Amino acid sequence: MSSAETQDRLSPYQMLGGAAGVRRLADAFYDVMEAGPAYGALRAMHQDDLAPTREALAGFFSAWMGGPRDWITSQGGFCIMSRHATMGVTPQTAGQWLHAMRQAMDKVAVPAALAAELDAAFTRLSRAMAGE
Ligand code: HEM
Repeated sequence: MSSAETQDRLSPYQMLGGAAGVRRLADAFYDVMEAGPAYGALRAMHQDDLAPTREALAGFFSAWMGGPRDWITSQGGFCIMSRHATMGVTPQTAGQWLHAMRQAMDKVAVPAALAAELDAAFTRLSRAMAGE
């Protein structure tokens, strides 16, 4: 098997660098959100203390990207759409979320092909959450 084929089999979780990598992406996302005035409406929807949310996003990413599912198991299961259904996500806040995530992927240097793939999935999810 060539090394290119081996590469193809890596999960997004592995490509990001495992547990530390998904945590870096989750942290970068909330760092970007907290730093930018452009994300004010999105930030206002969140609790003041983002520590548990950082933990949750990293745990969700792990399972969703093909890594360990411990966080989802610890929640007794998790549906990303149901969790957001009562949050009143709008096209504006969904746009802020996507923009912040793009900045975060850039910040932690997610490889371009993976970033494009994740972006497409984030876009579908965000639009659905905003009822678009
Ligand atoms: C579309 C725009 C989105 C908005 C406005 C939004 C907003 C929120 C808010 C307000 C919370 C609660 C956190 C807190 O109170 O601190 C949250 C939690 C969370 N969000 Fe989103 N979100 C969006 C999209 C997404 C997407 C696309 C994903 C995953 C790909 C995601 C993953 C999560 C996770 C894993 C949690 C933590 C759940 C928990 O603590 O049980 N969100 N989101």
